[in-house]
Amino acid sequence: MRFATTLAAVLSLASTSSALNILLNNDDGFGSGNLRELYKLLKAAGHDVLIVAPATQQSGQGGRSDFSTYPNLTSSSQYDIVPAGAPAVGTDPNDSSIWYYNGTPAACTFVALDYVLPRYYPGWTPDLALAGPNYGTNLGPFVYSLSGTLGATYAAVSRSIPAIALSASNAAVPYFNVTNSSHPAALAAKASYAVVKQFINATAEGARVLPLGYGVNVNIPELFDDTLPPVVKSRLTGEAETDVAVYDEEKGTFTWGNLRPLAAGVNACYNGDCSLPGETAVVANGGISVSAFTIDYDAPSIPYTEMVFAKVENLFSSGEGGNETSGYRTKPAPKKRMMTGRDVYRM
Ligand SMILES: *[C@@H]1O[C@H](CO)[C@@H](O)[C@H](O)[C@H]1NC(C)=O
Ligand SMILES: *[C@@H]1O[C@H](CO)[C@@H](O)[C@H](O)[C@H]1NC(C)=O
Ligand SMILES: *[C@@H]1O[C@H](CO)[C@@H](O)[C@H](O)[C@H]1NC(C)=O
Ligand SMILES: *[C@@H]1O[C@H](CO)[C@@H](O)[C@H](O)[C@H]1NC(C)=O
Ligand SMILES: *[C@@H]1O[C@H](CO)[C@@H](O)[C@H](O)[C@H]1NC(C)=O
Ligand SMILES: *[C@@H]1O[C@H](CO)[C@@H](O)[C@H](O)[C@H]1NC(C)=O
Repeated sequence: MRFATTLAAVLSLASTSSALNILLNNDDGFGSGNLRELYKLLKAAGHDVLIVAPATQQSGQGGRSDFSTYPNLTSSSQYDIVPAGAPAVGTDPNDSSIWYYNGTPAACTFVALDYVLPRYYPGWTPDLALAGPNYGTNLGPFVYSLSGTLGATYAAVSRSIPAIALSASNAAVPYFNVTNSSHPAALAAKASYAVVKQFINATAEGARVLPLGYGVNVNIPELFDDTLPPVVKSRLTGEAETDVAVYDEEKGTFTWGNLRPLAAGVNACYNGDCSLPGETAVVANGGISVSAFTIDYDAPSIPYTEMVFAKVENLFSSGEGGNETSGYRTKPAPKKRMMTGRDVYRM
């Protein structure tokens, strides 16, 4: 009977859990129809919801945390909701719970946690961070690192907040164009909420929605009505895409394409249950994929990992807890300044 479940039926089930503090973000901009529809559903369900999302379209930024160098908007925000010259971080003139920031999705997560919340909502800590629903799917490990929706999500996970990335298959639409509940943006929000609601309902009051370091990636196929597609447990790898650089001889420029045959590298399975279907195939077949990820990107403790370290084993000196191997370190090493790749562009 799962196929007959309607989104309306899922929405009508009373929540058994208490209201959560939910932080909403996206990469399509704070005026996104998808984002605003999900916001409305979450609020209608009694949750305390704040949006802190980019002032402009910020797709494809991945986890890049880019802060504006100007204190003001240098041009008007998405859909002219806020004019040029307004502060780089502020609220929608029509709704003080909807914040924009002139930065990338991950930067919006950090600005929310380190500026908006402490200054304007002291004591309000998010129980859950959601990003999206995005216009377009975000499937597989390559897109994971490319998507601003995922970037906002793993930024929240890195700050110890359970977070869920939501991506749908509908086209961009300004929030003020979504005028009824059968609009594709409204359907995308309802399907997103159907999944989010289950996570919330299955969490005991006061408990974490997801374990520390965990996030969830949800992808939704094209929706035509209120019928909830089958929801499928999936994994990021498996029939996943990666890019090929396509050269245009006439223009002398490149664009991207999907590599064929599919690359083995992006589909290598070392973590989790390798028998689960890949999320790419699940959505291609009309299902909603639900994949779990962790931001512990270290390779698992398997022989391959030992092989990698074994190659440089004779370079490894004893760190803390190790053994001297060379006699080189006879006195404590002086503390060195560590320049990161990020310092290079900060200078
Ligand atoms: C605020 O709401 C009014 C009335 O609903 C609408 O006309 C106006 O465009 C909205 N302004 C913004 C910035 O969204
Ligand atoms: C920039 O924003 C500040 C508030 O953050 C405001 O006081 C100032 O007038 C703005 N500047 C311009 C040029 O609009
Ligand atoms: C939004 O509505 C306006 C006015 O009706 C229309 O011109 C525009 O094409 C619509 N845009 C989208 C993306 O639906
Ligand atoms: C809902 O809005 C969509 C898009 O604007 C439109 O095509 C459709 O006819 C509307 N449906 C109803 C029932 O009003
Ligand atoms: C909500 O969670 C409770 C406890 O985990 C469970 O018994 C109930 O079936 C859930 N309700 C829905 C609609 O999933
Ligand atoms: C250090 O070396 C000793 C003697 O070779 C060995 O017994 C011990 O396990 C080593 N400790 C570590 C942390 O590798």
